[in-house]
Amino acid sequence: MENNIISGTTRICGIIGDPIEHTMSPVMHNAAFQKAGLGFVFVPFNVKPEELKQAIHGVRAFNIRGLSVTIPHKVAVIPFLDEVDSLAEKIGAVNTIVNEEKRLKGYNTDASGFLRALLKEGIQPEGKNVVILGAGGASRAIAFILADRGAELTIINRHLAPAQEMAGRIFSFFRKEVKALELNRENLKIALDGADIVVNTTSVGMSPNAGKSPVGADLLKPGLVVFDIIYNPMKTRLMAEAEKRGAKIISGVEMLVWQGVAAFELWTGKSAPVQVMRESAIRALSSK
Ligand SMILES: NC(=O)c1ccc[n+]([C@@H]2O[C@H](COP(=O)([O-])OP(=O)(O)OC[C@H]3O[C@@H](n4cnc5c(N)ncnc54)[C@H](OP(=O)(O)O)[C@@H]3O)[C@@H](O)[C@H]2O)c1
Repeated sequence: MENNIISGTTRICGIIGDPIEHTMSPVMHNAAFQKAGLGFVFVPFNVKPEELKQAIHGVRAFNIRGLSVTIPHKVAVIPFLDEVDSLAEKIGAVNTIVNEEKRLKGYNTDASGFLRALLKEGIQPEGKNVVILGAGGASRAIAFILADRGAELTIINRHLAPAQEMAGRIFSFFRKEVKALELNRENLKIALDGADIVVNTTSVGMSPNAGKSPVGADLLKPGLVVFDIIYNPMKTRLMAEAEKRGAKIISGVEMLVWQGVAAFELWTGKSAPVQVMRESAIRALSSK
């Protein structure tokens, strides 16, 4: 599509969530679709949990090509799909749907996007000691793909039970021991001592609490890779302190961009204009 003209052949993609107002996806995907000139548009849909089933039927009825899926639907949407990619099935969450002639298949590009962001920085997870802070939805996607790629994992969470539950699930799928610890200074100190990579998947440090960090600055060291998946702010306090201590930092913007790139590729079958997507995301985040 050129110059945003919608015609009779325009293909539709979108995002479902509730709430949906704060999503970055329309800005990023419309910039990419326009650049690629493929005749696609991307729209936000506020779908209430009780209307999720009808919304998914509507994807088939309206011949919508694909959807991104965000909170609170990533788990609940699975029973309404025809097929789920094997990693997304293990993770138990889907954030991307592709409509192939009314057959809907779910994927988890949070997982593949995180991995691609890491690999693009030249970091291979195989055999690395990775400390994951948090045991929520994003943590689960990241922990599963890292386990799949042969990383040694420690999951540290404010409440111990979700970390233990995740460690148990990873063991049952991959036969891989994962340490689960409660988030406190003592445990952080022990875990970070032998860590190659630390990934913050908690919301600690996210706007409007940008002054906070889940890790004491003194525990950060040169050689450590610190990946904070928060993208608002683009540089969190954890990242700023890690950089000051000589650690390598990766921003959540990269995961946001690469999960979008993976979705774009699934919907269009073409490679995505990555830099356009990054610039549009950064522009939108800068004006927040
Ligand atoms: N860059 C990207 O593409 C991308 C993608 C997805 C998510 N994210 C970001 O990742 C973050 C988490 O998202 P999510 O969907 O995984 O959320 P979630 O499922 O609600 O999980 C939130 C996690 O944060 C922990 N947490 C919350 N408040 C805390 C506090 N005060 N102290 C310590 N831990 C705390 C929770 O611990 P408990 O279990 O103890 O409550 C839980 O582990 C958000 O900032 C989100 O924006 C980024």
